[in-house]
Amino acid sequence: MRICWVGLFSGWVALLGAFPAWGANQDPLGRIAFGSCYKPEKETRIWGEVEKFSPQLWIWLGDNFYNDFIEGKYIPSNDDPKAFEKGYAKLGSSPAMRTLNSLLPDRVMATWDDHDYGKNDAGKEYDRKEESRRAFVKFWGNPDRSDGVYSSKDWGPRGKCVRVILLDTRFNRDLLPPKGKGTSEGDMLGEAQWIWLEEELSRPGADLVLIGSSIQFVSEKHPYEKWSNFPKAKQRLLRLIVKTRAKGVIFLSGDRHKAEISCSNYNPVGYPLYDFTSSGLTEGSSLRNEENPDRIGNFYSGYNFGGIRVDWETSDPKITLEIHGEDGRVAESVSFPLSQLAPRGR
Ligand SMILES: [Fe+2]
Repeated sequence: MRICWVGLFSGWVALLGAFPAWGANQDPLGRIAFGSCYKPEKETRIWGEVEKFSPQLWIWLGDNFYNDFIEGKYIPSNDDPKAFEKGYAKLGSSPAMRTLNSLLPDRVMATWDDHDYGKNDAGKEYDRKEESRRAFVKFWGNPDRSDGVYSSKDWGPRGKCVRVILLDTRFNRDLLPPKGKGTSEGDMLGEAQWIWLEEELSRPGADLVLIGSSIQFVSEKHPYEKWSNFPKAKQRLLRLIVKTRAKGVIFLSGDRHKAEISCSNYNPVGYPLYDFTSSGLTEGSSLRNEENPDRIGNFYSGYNFGGIRVDWETSDPKITLEIHGEDGRVAESVSFPLSQLAPRGR
């Protein structure tokens, strides 16, 4: 019997092409990008800039579309029974998804914020949350859990592993205190998500841990949504990082319609805690000033996305956080060695 080696080889190539590359998550992530606050109907040049950055992973941090923004106007609540179906259809055919699908199919992770959850500043009281959760899971493919859309995934080989943990800060969140008026004793995540988060932070193998939270973790002085509206929950998360001995933690956040890099040097974790905020992809701010003693450099209020570079080739990997503007400039950046994100003695 004669064997046709050319035919056999091309058959294997065709067969391999039919499946995702084996070990697709195994190449080290050197470029990660994220963004939030996106109205698919608005014109923006930001996706051209994302394309130039060429991320190996893209993270959506919420307000991925605005369910309560119809025909150019905000409405208190969207009563359309097909609201979520229509919202995701609009997002699905947007320039954002066209760019991301061509760049990196299967290399997108997502969580939500209030406007794609369904309603401004909404939490666990939101009456369409289960319907919204099902629509989210169907579109993004997150795990189908009964209590929210939180998810986690490891990227890269051993010794160069990035763990991305995306929190759900909506589905179980207690009522928000009135804007600018004090704090709440309530919770942000719900017990099941806390238990899951402890497991994710304890699991060995991660060299860098990116915790995506729709709202800001470090910045405390402004009157808008933030973790410090719920000080008990914020302390609980800080204590959890200490308890699980998690190293290399960086927070990513959105929501604010401005971008900034905050770093809290005085916290129980025992190493500098960065909170890199990027917002929004199509939303900006006329804000001139905002108190944030932990901010590095200036905030940026034009359309933006967040870029994270990791140079794994040096013995102490170098991390660079960059705010990328729609105009192609890097508005602000900061670099530090990964070893900085470990408490002495641990
Ligand atoms: Fe937003």
